[in-house]
Amino acid sequence: MAQVIIPLDVPTLDDAMGLVDSLGEATDFYKVGLELFTAEGSAAVQALKQRNKRVFLDLKLHDIPSTVARAVARARVLEVDLLTLHATGGRPMMEAAAQAAENDLTLLGVTVLTSMTSSDMEHSWGREVDSIEEEVVRLATLVRDSGVGGVVASVREAAPVKRALGSDLVVVTPGIRFAGGDAHDQARVSTPGAAVAAGADYLVIGRSVTQAPDPAEALRRVHEEMAGSRAVGTA
Ligand code: C5P
Repeated sequence: MAQVIIPLDVPTLDDAMGLVDSLGEATDFYKVGLELFTAEGSAAVQALKQRNKRVFLDLKLHDIPSTVARAVARARVLEVDLLTLHATGGRPMMEAAAQAAENDLTLLGVTVLTSMTSSDMEHSWGREVDSIEEEVVRLATLVRDSGVGGVVASVREAAPVKRALGSDLVVVTPGIRFAGGDAHDQARVSTPGAAVAAGADYLVIGRSVTQAPDPAEALRRVHEEMAGSRAVGTA
């Protein structure tokens, strides 16, 4: 069954722990991203670990292989459970990271950000992009071949990635919204039910829950919608 990860996209540790306390036992998996990590550093990870929470450290590493490998080694010491790096950093970078992870944490290769459209990609990459799905599957293949355990992709690409690369590759999908909800800065959004049907392993659900008038109630709604859906191909 797919699991929900709540991103702590807030500027202080107090704000983050306020959100964690308000959600209580409803989830045990949180994401520490660039904002909170830049503000509070590893204290944010340690505070979550002290509360027996699992931690997705979303730093989207992209640097020379030795630098990335050393950052991965630090994340291992912090007992991080999931850590992102950009698939476009290339195979040597991802192989060095996988070696440093030593199976203690699952690395996730970010394929194409869920905020990007094909015209954004064409501008960045300087060539035509016919299909985002093809680009995501191509990058996910590079991720798998580099020994990295999972990928981040939008719900729209989750099923094609699973079909092409098998169910062992972990798929994490951000860009989740309730039907009719505000997409904010995301371009490729889908509902919690669609994410489960597509075979996603983890759903990162931020503003739809954290900015709801009652976050705990919004998370209950997410779980209800997920329970009512089922991955294609399961009994
Ligand atoms: O608020 P929302 O649900 O859009 O939050 C999505 C979270 O997932 C953000 O923390 C964002 O950094 C993260 N993310 C993403 N797209 C990726 C990787 C991570 O939106 N490809």
